[in-house]
Amino acid sequence: MLTRRGFAARLTLGAAAIRMSSEMAYAQRSAAHLAEVMSKDMVWLNSNENPAGPPAVSLDAMREALPVSGRYHYNEFNQIYKVIAGSEELTPDQIVTGAGSSEVLHTAVDAFTSATRPLISVTPAYEGPIELARALGRPVVLTKLREDYTADVKLLAEAARNANGGLIYLCNPNNPTSAAVKSSDVDWLVANLPANTMLLVDEAYIHFVESPDVKSALPYVRQGKDVIVARTFSKIYGMAGLRVGFAAAKPAIIQKLMPLQMNVVSIVSARGVVAALNDREKIVPERRAGFAKTRRELCTWLREREVKYIEPNANFIMIDTGRNAREFISAMPKLGVAPGRPFPPLDNMLRVTIGTDAEMAKFREVFWKVYKG
Ligand SMILES: Cc1ncc(COP(=O)(O)O)c(C=O)c1O
Repeated sequence: MLTRRGFAARLTLGAAAIRMSSEMAYAQRSAAHLAEVMSKDMVWLNSNENPAGPPAVSLDAMREALPVSGRYHYNEFNQIYKVIAGSEELTPDQIVTGAGSSEVLHTAVDAFTSATRPLISVTPAYEGPIELARALGRPVVLTKLREDYTADVKLLAEAARNANGGLIYLCNPNNPTSAAVKSSDVDWLVANLPANTMLLVDEAYIHFVESPDVKSALPYVRQGKDVIVARTFSKIYGMAGLRVGFAAAKPAIIQKLMPLQMNVVSIVSARGVVAALNDREKIVPERRAGFAKTRRELCTWLREREVKYIEPNANFIMIDTGRNAREFISAMPKLGVAPGRPFPPLDNMLRVTIGTDAEMAKFREVFWKVYKG
């Protein structure tokens, strides 16, 4: 006989099988058609990875960790959490780690949406949290972008108010648009969060921002507001395959996320992250400057050819191809460059990751060939 408790446990098991898709899964799904044209020389500009890979100090630390990875090293983790939290002037009880930020985004969506409490986001935004909420049977409310492609924080707040609360997902800078919300707008949103509303700010790309008007939402976490910030080591730190991310929030919120955490991260990845963080004051500005230079050169090249684009704030750019971008998505890989997937309703836009200078030279050649027809 199925008792009430047994039934609830089964429901929980069913829910546990639902996982948030990662950028890797989206890239893989949209690259299925590339099987015939796949070559080892393909320039991959499709999933916003960092071609620099992990910093040299992390590689050294991970090489040292490999031979001793036969043990769990549980006694080291308190110190690891202290370093990760301390890198952002937080305490260990204000963070929870995950396999990339995908895991912490998943736990936040699971914990702070329900059958009556929707996920609220702009469209298009990073698909992961939206698709996860739908898979979990949670309602989703999508709001329109402003003319300049940034999130309209007033519409997001209004949607939360109309639903009597919910989880607002704000990806800043936003994937796929690379547009960023000014900190004055985020200030307004935090000050005007409706009742029963949590704000989840996904800062996967925050390190690439150059504008002084755009800032991290971490100060709100330090002030104890109803704000969760998701961070990843996949982007500026170039560790996408190592799978480390964290959520930062006040301890009461972290306590709600912890039970949904899948597991600890691998000691090899954790040692790599700690080494990178210990050297972050050198690594982050150097890498940001390198990306910004390559990004600026691409923008200049596009402007000279009167090709429109959305002003980028991340390590990718949305280019207005002037026609359905699917034409580029299918033609470019045959010429050796894989751009991003389609992002409806922005059907004419092509998302392109900023790669190395050599990769961007190849991109320009191939893009122009397809553009000119
Ligand atoms: C906006 C955004 N958030 C989160 C992620 C998840 O990345 P990861 O799980 O590697 O941290 C991605 C991946 O590209 C992303 O674009």
